[in-house]
Amino acid sequence: MKKIIPFIVVVFLLIQCKKNIPETAQNNKITGFIADSAMVVSAREEASKIGVAIMQKGGNAFDAMIATELALAVAYPFAGNIGGGGFMVYRTSDGKTGALDYREKAPLAASKNMYLDENGNIIEGKSTLGAMAVGVPGTVDGLFKVHQKFGSLPFSELIQPSIDLANKGVVVTEKQAERLAFYKHFFGEVNDTIIVLDADWKAGDTIKYVKLAKTLERIRDFGRDGFYKGETAEMLVNYVQKLGGIITKKDLEIYEAKWRNAIEFTYKDLKIIAMSPPSSGGICNAQIFKAIEPFDIASFGHNSLKSVQLLTEAERRAYADRSYYLGDPDFVTIPIDTLISSTYIQKRMANFSWDKATPSSTLKHGNIVGFESDETTHYSIVDKYGNSISATTTLNGAYGSKVYVSEGGFFLNNEMDDFSSKPGIPNMFGLIGAEANSIAPEKRMLSSMTPTIVEKNNQFYMSVGSPGGSTIITSVLQTILNVYEFKMGMQDAVNAPRFHHQWLPDVVTFEPKGFDSLLVNQLQEKGYQIKQENSVILGKVDAILRLPNGKLEGGADYRGDDKAAGF
Ligand code: GLY
Repeated sequence: MKKIIPFIVVVFLLIQCKKNIPETAQNNKITGFIADSAMVVSAREEASKIGVAIMQKGGNAFDAMIATELALAVAYPFAGNIGGGGFMVYRTSDGKTGALDYREKAPLAASKNMYLDENGNIIEGKSTLGAMAVGVPGTVDGLFKVHQKFGSLPFSELIQPSIDLANKGVVVTEKQAERLAFYKHFFGEVNDTIIVLDADWKAGDTIKYVKLAKTLERIRDFGRDGFYKGETAEMLVNYVQKLGGIITKKDLEIYEAKWRNAIEFTYKDLKIIAMSPPSSGGICNAQIFKAIEPFDIASFGHNSLKSVQLLTEAERRAYADRSYYLGDPDFVTIPIDTLISSTYIQKRMANFSWDKATPSSTLKHGNIVGFESDETTHYSIVDKYGNSISATTTLNGAYGSKVYVSEGGFFLNNEMDDFSSKPGIPNMFGLIGAEANSIAPEKRMLSSMTPTIVEKNNQFYMSVGSPGGSTIITSVLQTILNVYEFKMGMQDAVNAPRFHHQWLPDVVTFEPKGFDSLLVNQLQEKGYQIKQENSVILGKVDAILRLPNGKLEGGADYRGDDKAAGF
């Protein structure tokens, strides 16, 4: 007995100790890069380091965003861009939140049926490849909007590292060499000149982007007009029109990025701040989180039969609503409050059953009474002042439309494919759209980009986002759940195998090798169609988690060349 008493005391003390340690420290295993106070996680090490260097000079997260986004345009031409667009969600050190929409717009000469032939059928490839696929780019205007509102260092200091990087050159990675080899023939198909990426680039080679450096210098010297007017605009418009496109100088002149309110909702004791329309990400994830909130998903286990079923059924209903209700809020009225209300969502989940799948064919968008894209890139930033940003930027498809403004050294997007060219017919991500997302001049196409910031106890908790077209939304969702419900650290949460469902097609896609055959068989028995053979990776999540001791853990996705940097 004498020996047992000290043992009981020690156990008691250990339990008390554990109670005093914040929840995440008790459970979440930390395997990612750790920084004391500032971090950038992006698709390329060069871009993360450039963003961090700006913060080391005293710049804030918004300065770092501008520098990182421009560096990605140089180091990651696959999706980083000045010829595309994106979305950014922010939370300032004093808890103010907001969102920037620098999404591309349809040109003035665009029309509803521009991708249909005389019989009303979609013309294969017209909205995805070549000059007709290009939307009016928003990235450069977006960066100047950020600088005007939040910048603390001169713009010239933020762009200079990218000019230097473009002149010095960027080393080709294994993954980049593979991608270039795969996509190269499209560059020749679309362009009428040889482009710098046509060469037989191998891993370890250095590519210099001298023409791009000159364009960035014009942006440095003339501001927004260095892209939307003058020499760059002339090059862009002349080349697009030569290739049969419809963008004019007027389109470039009138483009404006827009500040918007973020979509904000709670999930248990989290506050989630996500992108509002014209992105569908915030509303879809609000619907999914609210649909699963009444369940104790943590007790089901990570990627267990019950977790997969619950998430799939919530996703099915959210994506069905997405296809019907969502579009550019400047053109259509979206019943946001109802769509994300618990009452509406619980009604949508009423016919969910653990026994069998709800076939998507039997499920349409919900009725609201009185209702008045895959290769993108994401980066997350936190600064030492306590500001955080989450930004996702894209050309839409890999290298966008493949149209390369050779004189200016940059690709143009194929974002027009994110409109619904013909209601009921899927786009390149298999997403079906309706009237709300039909084409009109100056309208923005619906997006799935989901830059997201999460707050816990009124403090910054996580910044997260991903590329992956329609799979972005579910990748972000699962990453947040992995940390919060399944007690993973940030890097492990990013690494964990992911799955995806989007209403139509009625299949659940699993990442290869991440799920065992027992789970797949159990789901199939309940009527779920599973795609695992030949399935692709789902998302490349770049995220930052604030640890209980105030340090930051980065989650840089191993699926790409992504990297965290910080101090
Ligand atoms: N282009 C991909 C997206 O906006 O969702």
